[in-house]
Amino acid sequence: MLSYRHGYHAGNAADVLKHFMLLYVLDYIKKKDKNFIFIDSHAGAGKYSISDPYMQKNKEYLQGIVKIFKINNNDIFLKNYLDLIKSINPNFDLKIYPGSCYLAAKSLRINDKLHFLELHTTEFLNLKKNFEDDSRIIIENEDSYKRLSKLLPPKEKRAVILIDPSYELKDEYNKVSKMLSVCYKKFPLGVYIVWYPILNNKKSESFILNILKENYKNLSHVQMIMDNSNDGMQGSGLFIVNCPWSVEKDIKKSLETIFNYLKKSDDCSKLIFKNNIN
Ligand SMILES: C[S@@+](CC[C@H](N)C(=O)[O-])C[C@H]1O[C@@H](n2cnc3c(N)ncnc32)[C@H](O)[C@@H]1O
Repeated sequence: MLSYRHGYHAGNAADVLKHFMLLYVLDYIKKKDKNFIFIDSHAGAGKYSISDPYMQKNKEYLQGIVKIFKINNNDIFLKNYLDLIKSINPNFDLKIYPGSCYLAAKSLRINDKLHFLELHTTEFLNLKKNFEDDSRIIIENEDSYKRLSKLLPPKEKRAVILIDPSYELKDEYNKVSKMLSVCYKKFPLGVYIVWYPILNNKKSESFILNILKENYKNLSHVQMIMDNSNDGMQGSGLFIVNCPWSVEKDIKKSLETIFNYLKKSDDCSKLIFKNNIN
């Protein structure tokens, strides 16, 4: 029984990092005038209303998107992310936080394709409602641990795959690293973006070691640690397999800017960015 709802967390600091990087990667792939597919293995609802009780419960968006939504910055990558959010929130009036599916659907071109997997029935129905008119998109109420590898290699031969689980199962870190390994073997050319929460226990550490030992090509790793003084989530990280080669030159500065707005204090917060690990 799944109890996680992304609405509790939508727009928090982890979402900002993940969605900023996702848009950067999609824009990079779009530089080539060749169609591709975006696959979201754990799709969520696509967009989240700030007034929704889920978002109001812990108001995590106050520690994320709200801290950067109105900043005036010339950084083109950051501007690109914020402009997309502003496009559904005119006049700087933040009412909706767009999830990965919405951002990708807005970013992709008319001949690109999108495929979303969402196991939670209510979230699946929300997702369908949010994208029912978009013929580029396939949405399935499926378990990604069974379904994702079957979608690979895609017929487009170019793909960005976001793996963004809720980590609510005990063994979910292991499931994710195994799934990534299986998918990579079937489709080594895919760009895989894998999100994970950094917790104050050994689980995230052994997950990181499991990913590193696979020798994925062009692997980048970003971590934003926001607070290491508690037992809950201390921050989040992203691995990108087959990451754009220019990532460091392109967005290291943007990440530092975002981090400086989001961090809670200098003592507890840290940004780690490693490129070309293998
Ligand atoms: C972190 S949220 C996704 C957020 C979304 N990708 C975004 O960035 O806006 C994870 C989602 O995965 C769904 N989920 C959990 N287990 C799943 C599974 N085995 N297969 C597919 N979806 C799953 C949850 O219901 C939840 O909506």
